[in-house]
Amino acid sequence: IEEINFVNEPVLNYDLGSTERTELEAELVNIKNGIIDIPVIIGGKEIRTGNKGLCILPHNKNKVIGEFHKAGKKEIEMAIEEALNAKEKWEKLPWQSRIAIFLRAAELAAGPWRAKLNASTMLTQSKTYKQAEIDSACELVDFFRNNAVCLQQIYSEQPLSTKKVWNKTEYRPLEGFIFAVSPFNFTSIACNLPSAPAIAGNTVLWKPASNTVYTSYVIYKLFQEAGLPDGVINFIPGNAGEISDTVLSNKNLSGIHFTGSTKVFQNMWTAIGNNIYNYKTFPRLVGETGGKNYIIVHNSANINSASRGLIDGAFEYQGQKCSAASRAYIAKSVWSEVKENILEKAANIKFGDIEEIDTFMGAVIDKKSFDTIKNYIEYAKNSKDAEIIFGGNCDDKIGYFVEPTIIVTSDPHFKTMEEEIFGPVMTIYVYEDEKFSDMLSLVDSTSNYGLTGAIFAKDRYAIEQAQKALVYTAGNFYINDRPTGAVVGQQPFGGSRLSGTNDKAGSKINLMRWISPKVTKETL
Ligand code: SER
Repeated sequence: IEEINFVNEPVLNYDLGSTERTELEAELVNIKNGIIDIPVIIGGKEIRTGNKGLCILPHNKNKVIGEFHKAGKKEIEMAIEEALNAKEKWEKLPWQSRIAIFLRAAELAAGPWRAKLNASTMLTQSKTYKQAEIDSACELVDFFRNNAVCLQQIYSEQPLSTKKVWNKTEYRPLEGFIFAVSPFNFTSIACNLPSAPAIAGNTVLWKPASNTVYTSYVIYKLFQEAGLPDGVINFIPGNAGEISDTVLSNKNLSGIHFTGSTKVFQNMWTAIGNNIYNYKTFPRLVGETGGKNYIIVHNSANINSASRGLIDGAFEYQGQKCSAASRAYIAKSVWSEVKENILEKAANIKFGDIEEIDTFMGAVIDKKSFDTIKNYIEYAKNSKDAEIIFGGNCDDKIGYFVEPTIIVTSDPHFKTMEEEIFGPVMTIYVYEDEKFSDMLSLVDSTSNYGLTGAIFAKDRYAIEQAQKALVYTAGNFYINDRPTGAVVGQQPFGGSRLSGTNDKAGSKINLMRWISPKVTKETL
C-alpha cells in the first residue's frame, strides 16, 4: 500500500471577488435567512424530542438561526444500544475502508462544503473570516488527513518474528462505546473528537456544545455525505449533566474524548471513579481542558514581534482559544517601549462586525461568558493593585461584546494573573531585568495549568534557561511566537497539569488511546 502523504490544507485569503469569498458570502446570507430544525440523530434516525434549545448568534443575540432537539435519558440509552450494534459491522470493516470515508470527508470539507462550514462557524462562534478559515476549513481537513496517515503508520507496525515464532499485532478498537464531548470554540476540534475514535473502529455518542449545535450538525451532515454508516457517530445535543449521568454509569463505556473546562473533566473522572466496579473495561479518559497561558518578554526581545505576539496571542478569537495568552511577564527595561507598541496595536484592532473582512474581533460566546469576563474586569477596575491601560468596556445590548482589555498589575499573584478568564483580557506583570530567574520560578509555581507558553528573546542563554525552568508549564511552548495557532502535524497540541491528559490531538499518541492492541504468538 502506498503511503498517504500529508500536506497542510492551504489557508485561503478571501479577496474581494474571489470564488471563495462569493461562496462564503452567499452561505452567510443563506444561513441567516432561515431557521432550521435540528434533530437528535441515533442510528441514522432523526428524533424530534420537542424539548428544544435555540441556536443564536453571539454578536446578534436576538437572531435565531436554528432550533435543536435535546436528547433525554431515553434517547441516550437508545444511542448506546445503536452504537454497540453499529460497532459489530464497523470494527470488522477493513481499516482502509474506514480511512477512505474520512479522506472523502476531507475532500468535501476542503471543497464544496468549505463555505458552509466557515459560514456557520463565523455565525455561531462569532469568528472572523480568517479565524473561521484556519479552524473549520484548514484544521478540520488537516485532522482528517493526518489521522488517516497516523493510523496507516500504526497499523503497519508489526512485532519481530523468528524462524520458530510468528508474532502479529491486531489493532483492535476498544470494547464498548466512546463518549465525545466537544467545545464551542473550535469546529475542527468538535469534528475531531468523534472522528478520531471512529476512524480507529470505535462507535461514538457525540454531545456537541449547546452554543454551537448548528455547526456540529453541519459536520454531522458532512459525515453522512462522506458515507459514514448509520450508528457509527450518534448525534446527541442536550443537557450536559443529564447526558453524562446516563452515559458515565453505563457498563459499556470504554472511553471519553473531551475538550472543555477542567472542572467538568474533573467531575467526569469523579463519576467514573464512583462507577469503577461496574465497567467491563477501564474507560480511557482523554481530555484537553483549561489554561492560563503566558508570554515572557525578555529584555533581548525584538519589541515589535513581541508586541504583535502579545496582541494576537491574547485577542485573536476574543481570547477564547484554550491556548490564548492571558498573562505576560515583561522586563522592566523594555516595558515602556512594549507598552507604547501594544497600545498602538490595540488601538488599531477592528472590533465588531465579523462579516467585514478586516475585522479582528467579534463577540464572546454567550451571556454567562460575558458576565464572567465582565466581573474580572470590574475586579481589576476596583483594585489598587491593578490599572487598566486599554479597553475595559463591555456591552451586551446587541451582542456579547467585550473590548480587548489590558491590565497591568504590581502583584504577580493578582487574581487575573492566576485564574482562567477565557476572554479578551491580558494581565501584565513587569519584572526587574536582574530577577529573570526569580520570574521563571514564579511562572512555574503559579502554573496550575500547563497548556501553552511563549518567550520572546534573542538571547539564547535566556531561552535555554526558560525552557529548563518551565518544563511542565506548557505542553506547547513557543520561542519568538504567540502561544496559539498550533498546526496539525507540525505542533501536535495538548497540555499537562490541569490542562488535560496531553494526548496530542491529531497525532499517533491520540489515536493509540482508541486502540487496544492484541498480540498473538504462534509457535511454528
Ligand atoms: N489548537 C488551538 C491553538 O493552538 C487551540 O485549541 O490555538
